[in-house]
Amino acid sequence: MSIRIMGTGSALPEKTVSNLELTKLVDTSDEWIRERTGIAQRHISTGETLVTLAAEACGRALENAGRDASQVELLLVATCSPERGIPCAACQVQRVLGAENAAAFDLNAACSGFLFALHTACAYVEAGIYQNALVAGGEVLSKIVDWTDRGTCILFGDGAGAVFVEKSGTGGILGFVQHSDGTRGDVLKCDSRALKNPYVELPMEAEFVQMDGREVFSFAVRQVPACIREVLTKTGVRAEEVDLFVLHQANRRILETIAKRLAVDMERFPMNLDRVGNMSSASIPVLLDELNRSGRLERGSRIVLAGFGAGLTYGACLVEW
Ligand code: COA
Repeated sequence: MSIRIMGTGSALPEKTVSNLELTKLVDTSDEWIRERTGIAQRHISTGETLVTLAAEACGRALENAGRDASQVELLLVATCSPERGIPCAACQVQRVLGAENAAAFDLNAACSGFLFALHTACAYVEAGIYQNALVAGGEVLSKIVDWTDRGTCILFGDGAGAVFVEKSGTGGILGFVQHSDGTRGDVLKCDSRALKNPYVELPMEAEFVQMDGREVFSFAVRQVPACIREVLTKTGVRAEEVDLFVLHQANRRILETIAKRLAVDMERFPMNLDRVGNMSSASIPVLLDELNRSGRLERGSRIVLAGFGAGLTYGACLVEW
């Protein structure tokens, strides 16, 4: 592939909520949350929507790439917390940006959503259908989280990140792998609307996010190292030749276990989950944007992006910056 990430952007809600503040809602403690997850605070929307956050992130990615919204040919938004069933978030973002020439649609692969959307965009560009794409991952998870469930409400945050990708000469995105295991969908789920019509009314099973934390943990620490090894084998690159591993920011203990299994120093696993929590499909592009803007990504750096989440879904990608 010869598709390069030309610009990154992100946007977070203004309000931050500390672990201490959560102790007013559920029976928990700052110490428990930090120790089990590494999270100290998260950003929670008090008015920002998925569309405003994603549009802001996309605008910044375009500015960073030096491109105009009218140049965008494909606009993808990965999300599992859209504010509307229809129209899709990508069309709403398109309207805000004025990206009138883009084809726009959403994609839901939960916390792997951004990676799956990036892969989709690359496939379109690689096939010559489009020359470029704007790919965002955004969530307002705070509206689908059960704020009385201490096992989940402490984990998640709201936000959005985006990248602008374009056909380029060399380097760029070197390889992808992605996998899904629908047989294990019950370990992390959230129903949308119950079947209700003049002929039937069925109860809703899980209006809010429901999770078997231990199952998700063991899935992540088993499958993520395997799929990172898979993408490295596919591209002929060794783990020691990778500069940074930019992973979905679910939990510090998950990242530490993955690093250990890959025999890679934790210094090469940048983290922002302490400040933003788990933002599902926004995690990877927000962290990537922070690294880009702080000058940690040098031209030619090799970066592995890897995500995992509900579905179950998981995937990895190797990028030469
Ligand atoms: N504060 C205090 N105690 C809590 C708590 C909280 N926020 N949440 C759960 N507990 C309690 C449980 O009720 C349980 O108490 P009990 O022993 O009296 O029954 C105890 O802590 C242990 O619960 P358990 O669920 O076994 O904890 P854990 O060590 O597995 O940690 C997670 C829970 C959620 C932090 C952990 O399973 C995890 O990180 N899983 C991955 C989740 C994830 O990343 N999901 C998103 C993937 S995209």
